[in-house]
Amino acid sequence: MNKLIDKMNDALRWELRAINMYAHYSANVKGIHRLQLTPMFNTEMTESIEHADIVRKGIVQLGGIPVTERSTHPITHTTDYVEMLNYALETELKASEVYAELLPLIDQTDDLYDSIEQIYLSELKSVEEMRLLVG
Ligand SMILES: [Fe+2]
Ligand SMILES: [Fe+2]
Repeated sequence: MNKLIDKMNDALRWELRAINMYAHYSANVKGIHRLQLTPMFNTEMTESIEHADIVRKGIVQLGGIPVTERSTHPITHTTDYVEMLNYALETELKASEVYAELLPLIDQTDDLYDSIEQIYLSELKSVEEMRLLVG
């Protein structure tokens, strides 16, 4: 059970970081790309808030204490949208890795399994999206 809670907290840390990173890039993207990338970064930010919420409540349900601090992996400031997209790709790859490690720790008959699987699939979708965007 502790291993599961630890891994859930790991996922929560990465979601908390993703919220900050996407908010930062959404505010800082410049030029014509701002028209498309600000809404996209905002969508990713909102999705990360939702994922964090599901994971946090799941941790409480399991009797654990959710973390309140983000992953310490640096959020690099840039105004170059290609760099932003590469950092977004890095973040989505990390998220899908963490959820892939988390799933086998959960009983498949548990409701939590379905929620985490949904999050995992949305991370994979984001990975593909960012891959296409970085070209
Ligand atoms: Fe997420
Ligand atoms: Fe994501």
